Amino acid sequence: MSIYSRIRPLAFRLPAETAHELGKGLLRTAQSTRPTKAGLAAVYQYENPTLEIERFGTRFPNPVGVAAGFDKNAEVTHALSALGFGFVEIGTVTPYPQQGNRRPRLFRLREDEAMVNRMGFNGYGMDHVKEQLQRDGLPPVPIGVNVGKMNTSSQREAIEDYRRVFDRLSPFADYVVVNVSCPNTPEEFDESSPEHLREIFETLEDENERDVPILVKIGPDSPTESVLELVDIVEGLGVDGIVATNTTTERDGLESPNREEWGGLSGAPLEDRSTEVIRTIAGHTDLPIVGVGGVDSAESAYEKIRAGASLVQLYTGFVYNGPATAREINRGLVELLTRDGFRSVEEAIGADLE
Ligand SMILES: Cc1cc2nc3c(=O)[nH]c(=O)nc-3n(C[C@H](O)[C@H](O)[C@H](O)COP(=O)(O)O)c2cc1C
Repeated sequence: MSIYSRIRPLAFRLPAETAHELGKGLLRTAQSTRPTKAGLAAVYQYENPTLEIERFGTRFPNPVGVAAGFDKNAEVTHALSALGFGFVEIGTVTPYPQQGNRRPRLFRLREDEAMVNRMGFNGYGMDHVKEQLQRDGLPPVPIGVNVGKMNTSSQREAIEDYRRVFDRLSPFADYVVVNVSCPNTPEEFDESSPEHLREIFETLEDENERDVPILVKIGPDSPTESVLELVDIVEGLGVDGIVATNTTTERDGLESPNREEWGGLSGAPLEDRSTEVIRTIAGHTDLPIVGVGGVDSAESAYEKIRAGASLVQLYTGFVYNGPATAREINRGLVELLTRDGFRSVEEAIGADLE
């Protein structure tokens, strides 16, 4: 029995956000001294050349990353790297500090291995995040920066929000994600309209002296034609990749009483839908895809890779499976790749598309 399976029932008695803060506090403590950080790495890191992959001009030690929202303020990037994740996406970062929605705003759906959140872009803002990154230094794995707008911003102000956060934090980033798919922020206008996307990406390209790869994160709830339209638009705008997907507003087939809570659903019930979106996009374009939604095992990560994802990310699966999550997924991935005769992750990407 792992330590986490003993601790989890206790942690799950706490309100979900309190448990998350406690967990992050432990990770922050663990990364604060060299011996504790090295201790974490000794137990949890798993290295294997089969798992290495290069995308966006960056080398990833393995394809299993932490999804946006877990480390919004870049407080535990070193601990997450020591736990064996191959990359960490921080944020969503907004230009100024923002409270987000009223608590409670994060709910476990235990029977469904899922969560519902309506955090609403809470965070300390870009200046705090910049200081944090400067103070801690960058971790040894690639960092993605997920950028967002203030909840109160108009369409015009939103462009300026993205520009400011990009300007401030892209120097630290191996890639930047424009998040136009959050279901929990007020919708004053259509964030994914072609005109708005064009304005965002043209503005960011003007700022992009270092040529940092820029990706867009999409939701799982649009019909296939709309997804493909969006992909065509962003590809035409020179975007470097797609993160698919964000959380869903669907609630089909859930058992937990917390299914009644409003917000975005993540975890196991999202898995098939997000893989379907990945498959659809991969069948339509060669843009690299970061697959996210319900990854909680080697099998679920492998399925997304075979459907066309170059990299995968997770949040909810980490909460349910604990600190050994990345190690176990990576170990299992090597076994699955070997079983199927692939010499590297690269060879397995999109294997199910033919
Ligand atoms: C509590 C919570 C907060 C999140 N915050 C963000 C966020 O700030 N920005 C973002 O792009 N996605 C955010 N997400 C979405 C995740 O990055 C991911 O797309 C989604 O949870 C599906 O992955 P999962 O099933 O592995 O959790 C959040 C998810 C959760 C559960």
